[in-house]
Amino acid sequence: RKPELPLVFMASRVKHPLILDILCLFLQVTCNSFTISDGEMQDVGVGLYPSMSLLNHSCDPNCVIVFEGKCLHLRTVKEIPKGEELTISYIDVMMPTRQRQNQLKRQYCFTCDCHRCLTGDKDKDMLAGDEQVFHFQNHCSLNTSAEEGIEVLAMCKALLTSSQLPDRNIHQLKVLDSAMDACIKLGLWEEALLFGLRTLQPYSLYYSDYHPVKAIQMMKVGKLQHYHGIFHDAMVTLKQAFNVMKITHGENHTIMKDLTELLEDCTSAISASR
Ligand SMILES: *[C@@H]1O[C@H](CO)[C@@H](O)[C@H](O)[C@H]1NC(C)=O
Ligand SMILES: *[C@@H]1O[C@H](CO)[C@@H](O)[C@H](O)[C@H]1NC(C)=O
Ligand SMILES: *[C@@H]1O[C@H](CO)[C@@H](O)[C@H](O)[C@H]1NC(C)=O
Repeated sequence: RKPELPLVFMASRVKHPLILDILCLFLQVTCNSFTISDGEMQDVGVGLYPSMSLLNHSCDPNCVIVFEGKCLHLRTVKEIPKGEELTISYIDVMMPTRQRQNQLKRQYCFTCDCHRCLTGDKDKDMLAGDEQVFHFQNHCSLNTSAEEGIEVLAMCKALLTSSQLPDRNIHQLKVLDSAMDACIKLGLWEEALLFGLRTLQPYSLYYSDYHPVKAIQMMKVGKLQHYHGIFHDAMVTLKQAFNVMKITHGENHTIMKDLTELLEDCTSAISASR
């Protein structure tokens, strides 16, 4: 659980030396640890990778970190001129500037001054729509008591029906994502696909050309199309995912084998139907 108070603030109020030691250690760990995610970018644990902790943050980084099991890969996702600093993003970049800055401050104790933060890049799109509505949405999408797929789906549908928000609004986007995941959990593939398709354009808008999260989202949607027997569409989406993942995951990553198999399956299904 995230502490309610910034850790540094807590540390300044603690008097007992042993507790202070533990708290300082805890601070170092939270500031220097990496959340280990699986091939699908789902969080599976936390690890300490001392050499990686030296990398500075940017909200538009030139490197990404992907995992293969517990093995951490640092990969470049842009042309990097000689001498330019390597950067990664410590946080999810699909947040408006103020939210990103708050999280960086709270969790890593610094104020980011990258070009995206200075220009408020894409904030207008992320927060497009009526402010009142998305405050309400944010509140409801954080409702943790509804863990069952059916309840989550019902809540998401109610929100999507009542909201007048464009899909590029990040709160709306999170609801679409939750709806897709709930549908997948419930085996409602067709509905899952409809929600998933609506997320692709905004994902492309907010994540850079080569971003692992964007590729995973494309792969998810491509898999649904494949499952649904729409092989032509599946092929297009999966190829897009493939082209991004070649850079973000590398051609030897295990996930590329799954993707290659799916693509081959589409090819043979298409030629069999001729
Ligand atoms: C990270 O930023 C700090 C402060 O600007 C700088 O001193 C340090 O060299 C940077 N680290 C790397 C690995 O470039
Ligand atoms: C959260 O979900 C539960 C169960 O679905 C519901 O009863 C409750 O009203 C919800 N709370 C909010 C704040 O939406
Ligand atoms: C992928 O693996 C093959 C065989 O192990 C190796 O020859 C090739 O260099 C690897 N490619 C990359 C990009 O790591």
